[in-house]
Amino acid sequence: MNLVVVSNRVARGKANEPMTGGLAAALLPVVEKSGAIWVGSSGRVRDGAQKEPFAEIEALGAGALAMLDLPAAHYGGYYEGFANSALWPALHSRTDLIRTSQDDYFSYREVNAFMARALLRFQKPETAFWIQDYHFLALGAELRDLGVKQPIGFFLHTPWPASTVIEGVPHHRELVEAMLAYDLIGFQTQDDCDHFAGYLAAELGLDVEGGVVTSRYGRSQLKAFPIGIDPQKFAEQATKAVLHPDVSRLRRSLHGEKLAIGVDRLDYSKGLVNRLCAFDRMWTMQPALARTVSLLQIATPSRGTIEAYGNLQNELAKLVSEVNGRHGEVDWTPIRYLNKGFSQTVLAGLYRTAQVGVVTPLHDGMNLVAKEYVAAQNPADPGVLVLSKFAGAANELDTALLVNPHDIDGMARAIATAVSMPLAERRLRWEAMMVKLRAGTIQQWFADFVDTLETSQSGKRASEPPAIEPPPVLWPPRLANSNARYH
Ligand code: F6P
Repeated sequence: MNLVVVSNRVARGKANEPMTGGLAAALLPVVEKSGAIWVGSSGRVRDGAQKEPFAEIEALGAGALAMLDLPAAHYGGYYEGFANSALWPALHSRTDLIRTSQDDYFSYREVNAFMARALLRFQKPETAFWIQDYHFLALGAELRDLGVKQPIGFFLHTPWPASTVIEGVPHHRELVEAMLAYDLIGFQTQDDCDHFAGYLAAELGLDVEGGVVTSRYGRSQLKAFPIGIDPQKFAEQATKAVLHPDVSRLRRSLHGEKLAIGVDRLDYSKGLVNRLCAFDRMWTMQPALARTVSLLQIATPSRGTIEAYGNLQNELAKLVSEVNGRHGEVDWTPIRYLNKGFSQTVLAGLYRTAQVGVVTPLHDGMNLVAKEYVAAQNPADPGVLVLSKFAGAANELDTALLVNPHDIDGMARAIATAVSMPLAERRLRWEAMMVKLRAGTIQQWFADFVDTLETSQSGKRASEPPAIEPPPVLWPPRLANSNARYH
């Protein structure tokens, strides 16, 4: 099989270069080994006058990386607009933050259509397409419109919330119908999968039986594929990384004090405000913990031009300064707050240096930082993971200290418990988590999805699909000549 993987953000980075976001970093090693072609945005735009979508192609392991310049007229409406100001907040149950317009939706659909046309050049008879994430919900339908018959799979890296939440997205019905063009739709957790099935029943009147739904596109399989990491490789990286100058400087600066670490994109879904409040509360309630434990919070900026992200950045900067002002001493800073990205190698070393990993999102598809923190620990003296029960990772890492990120006092207590947990208990909890990580590696995830996708079309159009009642016309169909702008 010739596999074409598609995602908005791609990784050309090596282990020693900073990378933003879990998806790109997780996919890089497996895509490299698989020989797949990985197609995504170059991060640049160009006007639509060119004859063919422009792609810069370079070797990537046994395969290739193709980076496309996306259409300038639609990039903002697609990325900052519909993808990250309508879908992202809804998928993370923040419908109050939805800010979007018809134009954004139009741009989103245009970029999906643009990507579909660009993919045709990588199509061979034995090709299978694997589309990643919420940026491309409608890409499968666009490919089908272009006559593509090969297997097309989709994996959602974020949560899929309850129907009442997703209904906050303008054009939700049209988008979910378009998703049914995929042969296989993968989710991080069974809950996400069940929510999606619930939507199909409630909004489209479609039943899911044995994980399969039949629509006008034929059969689509719905399944949970929890994404993993390569725990062995990460552990090796962490062991080596203790010699890295950044990591040894951090160690030297601690003077025996314990360290808690948080590593996140600067995003409202990550629960950063609540986390800082929990540390504030802990140092207030237990002053003896001042100087005993400090927090290193790395918050890598992304999507900075979106108002909600700018507001969050200001709020966090203010909060850090207030908490440091309240609890700091001339020779002790409670929170070290860094707004920059670090390489996987350095991160692995930082995780190993920290006695507590705090991963407390309000909602998260999986959260690979939680898994990486565990894998990076010294088996003889492992740290403790404080993990939100609303991260997908909590399903597997159930021997972490699970917390409710809305309960500030509860989090403060859990962090204090983590700091003083005896070695025997730390080892028991850590070993149980490592068993889960070894059982669900990124290699396994990749292979499971691709194997399921390969067989997904057997009997696909065997039965006559039920007609879907046409949705109300919420959005005019794309103008017949609009494609011409990008050809
Ligand atoms: O699923 C979440 C995701 O799409 C991942 O790629 C990553 O965690 C993040 O969002 C990347 O966001 P962005 O590319 O907008 O910085």
